[in-house]
Amino acid sequence: MEVTARRFVVVGSLNVDLVTQVRQFPKPGETVLAGGELATLSGGKGANQALAAARLGANTALVGRVGDDAYGRHLLECLQRDRVACSGVGTTPGCSSGVAVIVVDQAGRNTIIVAPGASARLSTDDLDRHLSRLVPGNVVALQLEIPLPAVAHAAALARARGALVVLNPSPAQRLGDTLLASVDMFVLNETEASLLTGQPVDTIAQAGSAAAALRKRGAPCVLVTRGAGGVVAAQATGIHHFPARTVAAIDTTAAGETFIGGLCAGLLEGLELPEAIELGQAAAAVQVTRPGAQAAMPFRRELDESGIGGRAAG
Ligand code: RIB
Repeated sequence: MEVTARRFVVVGSLNVDLVTQVRQFPKPGETVLAGGELATLSGGKGANQALAAARLGANTALVGRVGDDAYGRHLLECLQRDRVACSGVGTTPGCSSGVAVIVVDQAGRNTIIVAPGASARLSTDDLDRHLSRLVPGNVVALQLEIPLPAVAHAAALARARGALVVLNPSPAQRLGDTLLASVDMFVLNETEASLLTGQPVDTIAQAGSAAAALRKRGAPCVLVTRGAGGVVAAQATGIHHFPARTVAAIDTTAAGETFIGGLCAGLLEGLELPEAIELGQAAAAVQVTRPGAQAAMPFRRELDESGIGGRAAG
């Protein structure tokens, strides 16, 4: 995989999203009828972050795995159409591509079950092959829909080569301090922050306290995303709150990945952290007003036309 200094490299999952709409989430043991038809869409937290950044103009590559099936071929076609370089996505024979079953309720909230398929086969050898030419200036994003040893290996490789490492611990699981100390930015939502700190994270103050606790464990910059409640950032200079734009959300699926794609696209352009956060928030604010994960992600010109696209530094 070719790596130039101004390239965003995402290491993560590609999933086909099977999406249904319900009035209310079913309780255990309950059957409910979905409204409308099942939608088959492109997703996966890794692919979503890559596509969000590519649509905002970032030179983007994805490292991951798909199965040798129609879903895998379709996922790659969709990403390539939006100029995400996919030579780092391998095909695993005899294995299905990742699939996510997503249920969206009337309030636009979702529940998601992921069957990782080929994403679970992403190996440290794959990463040695594709990340060995990273250079300072690259931004590398990681999430947790691939095996944890692969995440840790990718973070260590990227750090050693001077890239900026962004970890989104989603879906949440307990993580060692060594991994937290090997990333530059740790970006997580309130649920994930609560699970990782054991503290309630429902208010701005609680998000700040959780972010500070995670900084103490080694991540120099921690961003807690709060949806309509904005973003709380903790770094050496202190804790800051970035309010969100007010929008009528209909589907929040992949809002977090859209934010991270925008954040990383901004950092790659040389924006300072507050402006990069603003770009991520602007992209996510548009994305949640439309259905689906990748299908809903805005292009840079849409943000520019409405005057919310952020500015490249210098
Ligand atoms: O966060 C949304 C994403 O989570 C979906 O696209 C789904 O594939 C799962 O990875």
